[in-house]
Amino acid sequence: MEQKLKELQAEALQKIEQTEDLKSLNDIRVAYLGKKGPITEVLRGMGQLSAEERPKMGALANEVRAAISEKIEAKQEALEAAAVEKQLASETIDITLPGRPVKVGNHHPLTKVIEEIEDLFIGMGYQVAEGPEVEKDYYNFEALNLPKGHPARDMQDSFYITEELLLRTHTSPVQARTMEKHEGKGPVKIICPGKVYRRDNDDATHSHQFMQIEGLVVDENITMGDLKGTLQVFAKKMFGEDREIRLRPSFFPFTEPSVEMDITCKICGGEGCSVCKGTGWIEILGAGMVHPNVLEMAGFDSKKYTGFAFGMGPERIAMLKYGIDDIRHFYTNDIRFLKQFAVNE
Ligand code: PHE
Repeated sequence: MEQKLKELQAEALQKIEQTEDLKSLNDIRVAYLGKKGPITEVLRGMGQLSAEERPKMGALANEVRAAISEKIEAKQEALEAAAVEKQLASETIDITLPGRPVKVGNHHPLTKVIEEIEDLFIGMGYQVAEGPEVEKDYYNFEALNLPKGHPARDMQDSFYITEELLLRTHTSPVQARTMEKHEGKGPVKIICPGKVYRRDNDDATHSHQFMQIEGLVVDENITMGDLKGTLQVFAKKMFGEDREIRLRPSFFPFTEPSVEMDITCKICGGEGCSVCKGTGWIEILGAGMVHPNVLEMAGFDSKKYTGFAFGMGPERIAMLKYGIDDIRHFYTNDIRFLKQFAVNE
């Protein structure tokens, strides 16, 4: 019996050794260690053994089982490890292969200019306000001291949708809306960027759709000096410390007095050249002290409150800042144009 058990052990160990997959390893386990296996079979003959031999055989049988199952365990581990190795090898990424370059985009020049202007004014305590592009005639004109039939409406040829609705011609309706929300209580300190629309024929300096940024400050004791100081800071930050500004009298129905701001020409330094048309100055924006009618219509007491407002076109600012000669470049998305603004990002 001892002989038989030893033979079974040797036979099983050899089979285990030769197995190459987990399935047949499991078959061996079932075959040798299972209840119907040969070891159990041999042990059935135990009844014929003497009382001293029986425990010896039992111990031997246990040893044989232990040896086989130990070998199976070891083999199983080895096979599993090999399977993992194989999978890893098949999934290996060849990191020596040169990568494909990822194309990185950059901000549109208008976005850059608008964000720069926003940052500057946010730094001075302004909040960014927005309003609808499809606007009521009331906010676009009437609340800004431009009643129906007012000749100054001609300054801004408009796209009307109905009698009372139009595509806003400027961002000034946002000031009217914001003031109204403040219910007669200051301070109001906002900057409003956004798209505006006018019935213009597109050419190098005109577009039927363009951007504006409006600024508005309403509080007690706001003066023209505050407006000038603010615009001076803006011009120097945007165009360079060496730039001077000048305010020229102008007219807007919603401001009184009204001004236009020029900065000294960067090309000629004020001598006069083709860019500044020989004047040494370049027009940048319109501004003025908020008209008392506009304050009153929005619910502010114009005896107590004063304010200033200014409005500019970021396209124009970007054209001057980057030397762009045609406003249409901003809207045609020519990648060769846009790519030039990737620098410094
Ligand atoms: N809304 C004016 C325009 O589009 C610009 C402006 C804004 C002028 C605020 C004065 C004050 O022409």
